[in-house]
This record gives sequence, C-alpha cells and structure tokens, in this order.
Amino acid sequence: MKILVTAGPTREAIDPVRFISNRSSGKMGYALAEVALSRGHEVTLISGPVSLPAIPGVRLVRVVSADDMSREVRTLIPWSDALIMAAAVADWRPRLPSATKIKKSAQVRCLELEPVPDILSEIRAGKGDRLFVGFAAETGSVEAEAHRKLQAKGLDLIVANDVSAKDAGFEVDTNRVVLVTPDGAEQHLPLMSKRDVAARILAWVETHGADTGSRV
Ligand code: PMT
Repeated sequence: MKILVTAGPTREAIDPVRFISNRSSGKMGYALAEVALSRGHEVTLISGPVSLPAIPGVRLVRVVSADDMSREVRTLIPWSDALIMAAAVADWRPRLPSATKIKKSAQVRCLELEPVPDILSEIRAGKGDRLFVGFAAETGSVEAEAHRKLQAKGLDLIVANDVSAKDAGFEVDTNRVVLVTPDGAEQHLPLMSKRDVAARILAWVETHGADTGSRV
C-alpha cells in the first residue's frame, strides 16, 4: 500500500524569531513510517521540525507551519491508499504575525490568536475509499473525546493517547493507546514501544485497506 504519514509539531510564527509550537518529538510518526516501510509499504512522511534523522527508503517532505502541512497533505492524498495523521498540528496561530522582530520595548502583553483550519476535516470530501487514521491527544475523557473526534473528522480509525501520562504521548519512546472505530468499538492496548504501537496500527490498516488495491 501507499502510506502517507504525518509527524511532529508545526510552528506558527509570532515574528521572524519566535513561534508557537508544542511538545511533539515526531517519534510516533517516524515509528509509523519506519515500521510501514519494514512491512513492505511505500511510505511518504510529511514531517514538522524535529531532530530525528531521515529514514532511508522513506520519502521525506519537511514542513514548518500548519499551512505547509495542509498543502503537502492535499498534494499527496491522491497518491495514497492510507493517511495516518500522527502530527500535532497547531489548533491556533497568531492572527497577525509581525514581519519584523517585535521589540522588547513594545511591551506586547496580548497575542491575538485565530483558529487553524483542521486538515482532516478539510480533506474529508476527497477521501474516497482511502483509509484515514487520526490520533487524539487528550488529557482527560480520553475515550469520549476519541469517539467525538472520530465522528467529527470522518475517520476510519482514531488512536487515542493520554498525553498527561509520563510514559505515553509526547517525547517518550513508549505509548499507551486506545484504538476506536466507527462501530463504537474500543481496543485498549497496554503500554508498549511506539514501534509496537505502529505495528498494531499498520496491521489494522493492512486488514481494512485490503480491498482498496494500490494506486498508480
Ligand atoms: O511526536 P511524539 O513526541 O512521539 O508524540 C506523539 C503524539 C502525542 C504527537 C501523537 O501520539 C499524537 O497524539 N498525535 C496527534 C496530536 C494532535 O494534534 O491531536 P488532536 O487531538 O489535537 O488532533 C486530532 C487529529 O486531528 C490528529 O490526527 C491531528 O493530526 C489532526 N489535526 C489537528 C489539528 C489540525 N489543525 N488539523 C488536523 O488534521
């Protein structure tokens, strides 16, 4: 299958030297790309700014902002059989980023933010028979939020993780996830390495994408 994976954070500029971002290291998305390749898939990885090395054999597309990521996802969707959105895309960004460095003397006390368009919701109409897998990064009501986001974004599978746990979610090498599907089923996986989580997600994708064939 042709698998499109997103990973890492996005950065939203405040001015040319400052930005808003989040704690994503890219480990979960890179594990997905690496494991997908090892299982014989063609893999393209769209990555926000991370310090992880490129994976030989995986096509890497580097992006910075949510707008960049949205543009690359839209470009590559027609190529793909499955999209796995592990990236932590910004939900808000500065409304009017400054073209020049904001001076300390400006005494800015308030940063006006605007919502960032949701990539998964925006590409939903062009989904066709591709599989769309999202993640849900939660700090409470994990399962309820996962069911809500699965419906709201029209996903085939959502992988929910509690990012307030010390051994799961952002930055660490392990994760504890719940796989939630549109029929309401929840599969609670124990703590495992991000590579093993990736293998479980890819096994699901392989089973459910079996009928789609591969695109040219
Ligand atoms: O990178 P690591 O340090 O390994 O950490 C892994 C992780 C915690 C980042 C990963 O496991 C994870 O949870 N990724 C999703 C983070 C996130 O943005 O979750 P969310 O619940 O805010 O968003 C839900 C889904 O919508 C996600 O698939 C996200 O990619 C997508 N989204 C979000 C915002 C946006 N503007 N457009 C989107 O498509």
